[in-house]
Amino acid sequence: MASDSTSISAPHPNAPAGEFPDDLEEAILRLKKEQNAVLLAHYYQEDEIQDLADFVGDSLQLSQMAKQTDAEVICFAGVHFMAETAKILNPTRKVIVPDLAAGCSLADGCPAPAFGKWLEDYPDHKVVTYINCSAEVKALSDVICTSSNAVRIVEAFAGEKVVFAPDKHLGRYVAKQTGRDDLVLWQGTCMVHETFSEKKLLALKLRHPEAEIVAHPECEEAILRHADHIASTSGLIKYVAESAAREFIIATEAGILHKMRQVAPDKVLIPAPPEDESCSCNMCPFMRLNTLEKLYLCLRDLSPEVDVPAAIRAQALRPIERMLELSV
Ligand code: 13P
Ligand code: SF4
Repeated sequence: MASDSTSISAPHPNAPAGEFPDDLEEAILRLKKEQNAVLLAHYYQEDEIQDLADFVGDSLQLSQMAKQTDAEVICFAGVHFMAETAKILNPTRKVIVPDLAAGCSLADGCPAPAFGKWLEDYPDHKVVTYINCSAEVKALSDVICTSSNAVRIVEAFAGEKVVFAPDKHLGRYVAKQTGRDDLVLWQGTCMVHETFSEKKLLALKLRHPEAEIVAHPECEEAILRHADHIASTSGLIKYVAESAAREFIIATEAGILHKMRQVAPDKVLIPAPPEDESCSCNMCPFMRLNTLEKLYLCLRDLSPEVDVPAAIRAQALRPIERMLELSV
């Protein structure tokens, strides 16, 4: 869902099928050039979108790229909070997305009015907020973090009281890594990372005793306690490429397998099983709203566009910049 703070232009009307060129990939590459657009994609996007992107990365890397680019248009193949962050960092550039409804359960589970009210109970705390939240929630924060720098950012507040939002699993992981058992956690979760089953994971591990388990810190503690390595998407990809192990069980969104196969073609990659193995629960339903067809239309029409009201932008920029400063 679009964030509670963003004013958005109307989505393009659904184009009839006949409107699509036969070679969509070629048309998308052409449009990128014609529109002077850079295409940024998250590792959870479908393979074909990742292959067309100018840059594929995790949330932090994508924010850094969004800040650096001199393209007139940023086309963001990810979810809404990522495009919104790019707009906050680049107010003069047009930021477009294939589907405005590509939200995030973490962002949706932390509405700004409720978050602001909750913070009233912690007036003397620093507010560290995971980037998976709306611009309005960012505006209420002291610093933003991603899964790749959360530990480092919380460590920067040694000696100060800290609230961490919105992901309670990442928050608990950070508390453990930093020894900060006083972290106050907002109780949000990611609907994708919560679906992995400990019982099925252990059964899989019995069948693949040599496999290393790698997991994103948005997973529940019941999964993380069995992990050989816990990291952001880019951290997991790097680990799989560099580890001496041959087999891996991957506990995160299945889109990551595409890059892992590219950087580690000789490794065996096994997706961690969700509780209900008949579903595609290890695919983010928001990320997967983006398709090649919608990407084509969005580059053709330069719509739908993501915008952030100036007042919110002004307040949200500082905590994002602070994160970038603490991440170099
Ligand atoms: P990364 O920080 O690894 O990009 O994670 C983003 C995300 O949405 C995980 O669900
Ligand atoms: Fe949000 Fe989870 Fe999807 Fe990441 S995988 S965008 S945290 S719902």
